[in-house]
Amino acid sequence: MSYFKRKSMIQLLAEVVETEHGLKRTLTSMSLVALGIGAIIGAGLFVRTAAAAAQNAGPSVTIGFIVAAIGCALAGLCYAELSSSIPISGSAYTYTYATMGELLAWIIGWDLVLEYAVGAATVGIAWSEYLNNFLVEVMNLSPIAYQWCHSPFQESVDGINGIVNLPALGIVTAISLLLMRGIQESAFVNSIIVIIKVAIVILVIALGWGFINDLNHTPYIPVATTYTDHDGVTYNFGGILGILGAAGTVFFAFIGFDAVSTAAQETKNPKKSMPMGILGSLVICTVLYVLFAHVLTGLVPLEFFRDPEKGGEASVVAAIQEAMPGYAWLSKSITVAILAGFSSVILVMLLGQSRVFYTMSRDGLLPKLFSDLHPKYKTPYKGNLAILVLVALFAGFVPGNVVGHMTSIGTLFAFILVCAAVIILRKKEPDLPRQFKTPWVPFLPILGILTCSAMIFGLGKENWIRLGVWLLIGFVIYFSYSRKHSKINHDLS
Ligand code: ALA
Repeated sequence: MSYFKRKSMIQLLAEVVETEHGLKRTLTSMSLVALGIGAIIGAGLFVRTAAAAAQNAGPSVTIGFIVAAIGCALAGLCYAELSSSIPISGSAYTYTYATMGELLAWIIGWDLVLEYAVGAATVGIAWSEYLNNFLVEVMNLSPIAYQWCHSPFQESVDGINGIVNLPALGIVTAISLLLMRGIQESAFVNSIIVIIKVAIVILVIALGWGFINDLNHTPYIPVATTYTDHDGVTYNFGGILGILGAAGTVFFAFIGFDAVSTAAQETKNPKKSMPMGILGSLVICTVLYVLFAHVLTGLVPLEFFRDPEKGGEASVVAAIQEAMPGYAWLSKSITVAILAGFSSVILVMLLGQSRVFYTMSRDGLLPKLFSDLHPKYKTPYKGNLAILVLVALFAGFVPGNVVGHMTSIGTLFAFILVCAAVIILRKKEPDLPRQFKTPWVPFLPILGILTCSAMIFGLGKENWIRLGVWLLIGFVIYFSYSRKHSKINHDLS
């Protein structure tokens, strides 16, 4: 058995033809950009921005956004090259299988669970924060009791302990059911939500700009120190380390543009549409994010976001209510839009997750149930159900801050491997037709690796340990199941 046996390009391209009869090809460039923005704008912007400002960088969270965007753009260029030359489902997992062999492909596939499944749970938890806001502000009802919308590891300022986050559980379940019905319907719903979401972000920037208080932006980059939050967790605050920490935190807001590449098998003209889908959605979001973060941190003082009773949860709406009198209609519409917007993010993440597992299952690394297609809807419905169980555990029982950081670190690690894959593939398959070529290889991919590593560094020791433990669990599964069932190893013997 070989751990480094790679899938050849011929094998991969044959799979494309073979699966023509499997998943349906329905997506165009425009629907990919919509899919990308649908996955990108979400909890990262509407929840993690305030967290990064409060814990890491104050107003200079905007610089954190720029650092994160640079890392994503570099990785995005690498994703675009790989997805235009290997146009099949599976994202970074597939690329790694083709370039660095099975063991690393497994590691990345397992790591992508952090990005997609744990990411979906993170957004589910953020959805739950805004649901309470919706019940109180829009419907004039009472909020859900603290213990039923928080994990057992959280405690309110009044000493109430969380039990389970029921709204988070509910939303991930509802969307999993929708996904089992099929991608075409889901992509249509997604496009409508994307339009509403972008409109809301632009409205906040345009209307909030006039309410920026310069005092809240002074100093723009706080002096380097530390900050300990309500739960006793200490962060590097201010200075360069603060900005790097903020970049790692808000990096979450960019996650998703690569999910576009997981839908390559369902795309009509993947060679042209993939690079457009990935880079187009990334550029649009970066501009919106920096402006949005500038407005948000200008509306209220930093302390507002640090106070769990004020802007600690549902931060954007809380800040508008505090600083923009007369704009109740805006905060109400944002609450509704955010609930819809987060749902579309969860949808794309769960879609990405089921497609990665679909491909891994076809390779024999995961049980067959992940690639069994529904006879009518042609979706991997059993896989969707199994993934739902995993996502529900994280959504219901782990705090948002923890799953958010786990998602960021897992994705950053995946990006590093994708950058490396481009360099390796150029050496091993120099003649492979590439519709899109990453410029300045190996300089840009190496810069991508360095930027992503700096953000991993900024996320701190606790998160490095979490990533290590997650990968260890993955090794146990690989050596006890996947290695023995791997199709490629069977072919070898
Ligand atoms: N980028 C996605 C979000 O911000 C994951 O919610």
